[in-house]
Amino acid sequence: MNATVLLTSVDINIPGYRILSPIGEGGMASVFLAVQESLDREVALKVMSPVLAANTEFASRFLTEGKITAKLQHPNLVTVYDIGSHAGVYYLAAEYIPGGTLKERISQGGLSVAHILDIATDIAQGLDFAHEKGFVHRDVKPGNVLFRKDGRVVLADFGIAKAMDGSNSSTVAGSSIGTPDYMSPEQARGEPVDGRSDLYSLGTVLYEMLTGTPPYQAGDPFTVALMHVTHPVPALPEPYEWLQPLVSGLMAKDAAQRYNTGAAFVDALHKLVEAAPQGAVLQETSARKAGGGGRIAAGAATQQRTRISARQSSGRPAWLWPAAGVGVFGAAVLAWWLLTPATAPPSQSQPQGPAAQPTAATPATETLPESFQMPQPVDTANQDEVDRLLNAGDKLYEYATQVEVGRKLDYPDDDSALGYYRRVLAIDPENARARAGVASVVAFYRSYAHKACDRGEWVQCGFLVRKGLAVDGEDPYLRQLQDAVATAESGGTPALPAAPPSS
Ligand SMILES: Nc1ncnc2c1ncn2[C@@H]1O[C@H](COP(=O)(O)OP(=O)(O)OP(=O)(O)O)[C@@H](O)[C@H]1O
Ligand SMILES: [Mg+2]
Repeated sequence: MNATVLLTSVDINIPGYRILSPIGEGGMASVFLAVQESLDREVALKVMSPVLAANTEFASRFLTEGKITAKLQHPNLVTVYDIGSHAGVYYLAAEYIPGGTLKERISQGGLSVAHILDIATDIAQGLDFAHEKGFVHRDVKPGNVLFRKDGRVVLADFGIAKAMDGSNSSTVAGSSIGTPDYMSPEQARGEPVDGRSDLYSLGTVLYEMLTGTPPYQAGDPFTVALMHVTHPVPALPEPYEWLQPLVSGLMAKDAAQRYNTGAAFVDALHKLVEAAPQGAVLQETSARKAGGGGRIAAGAATQQRTRISARQSSGRPAWLWPAAGVGVFGAAVLAWWLLTPATAPPSQSQPQGPAAQPTAATPATETLPESFQMPQPVDTANQDEVDRLLNAGDKLYEYATQVEVGRKLDYPDDDSALGYYRRVLAIDPENARARAGVASVVAFYRSYAHKACDRGEWVQCGFLVRKGLAVDGEDPYLRQLQDAVATAESGGTPALPAAPPSS
């Protein structure tokens, strides 16, 4: 994103529009409040970064996508009024939505559960409508959810992500789709996506609304993307556990295990709310991003009349009221059974592969020549520990290469193949098995990165290359691939090295 050059109102002169003030800036565009002079109406004028406009592929896709998405008219989708380019500046005029973004609301904190469920419903309905018509948003995230004055939300930027991430080239995607926080596993893998990918992203947004942070966090965006592929669906903290079926049904790793449509999600949400313990939906979240500043907003959200809380009070037969408090746990369990998609998403269960407790090692018994001297420093206790760690590392390596590819390979530090090998090397820096283990982790990344590069999936390849270089920054093969990615991303024709020898 650093390469992005954003525009100021001074730079812009688009015939037919008068710019009033800047509204906001994203990674690839500047947004202004403007007046469309012909109709004398206020619009949000989104002006794309010249970096994007320089890419001819983007430019033509932007106009095509814009024309198509302008036909999408729904109360929960931002209406596109106009799209075009003037003197090389690409712009889009859309309905001006004045109430700020969900990103801002989340960082302020204090959204009630009922309000959150209303917001999720609005987003799902907008998605459902667009999916029915064959559109996938691809960039559902709090920054693209805007509030109308009446509190309802609308989804912005339909089609924009597609314009930036065309099917025949993903070179711009890594920089244009700014954050991997909301990315579905199939998107992270660079595979084709359908509406269920948007539903996954909705699941991540729902999770963030409830807890204040996106589901996966790591030091770099590449790891976050990988976590979407490999990490279990996050568990909601205690007060919101009853909503877990929704998060699990949206965020299943396998798209086939998710709710099929936005409507199916809304339906499940309504059933869950009707079965929920009284008061649960009125609960206020303390969700607030760390460093968001200020006290958690209290009270306001709870007072708000939400559609969901109305549904809860009308949906329950009167005779149930006295019993409402009794079966809280039972209701939650029942709701879980009723609402979780047919087969539980695999990610809900703990990984089947490696046992948490590695089996005890059987030290090799060899007949040694009499002249042989035992290496000095390793005492018996340490040797047992080394063997235990090596076995654990080998098991996880096998798991990460045979069972759930990539998982538990190098993350987390305390429970991954690499983590175990490194712990051995901390005790015994020359340990041959541990060194070979680390080398095989690097070989894994060489092989997968080469495959991705070979398919022309440069973003994906770059991601795998970086993962490999994080293990061994000097690896010459990965460096070659890194150069190839850089060449491809700057529009050149990269020279790919031959596939690495399988190890
Ligand atoms: N139709 C609109 N009405 C009112 N404000 C808008 C509208 N569209 C965008 N904005 C504001 O402009 C800001 C920038 O929007 P933009 O789409 O460029 O970036 P983003 O979605 O926040 O992030 P990214 O560029 O990473 O996708 C938004 O955060 C929002 O505050
Ligand atoms: Mg946006």
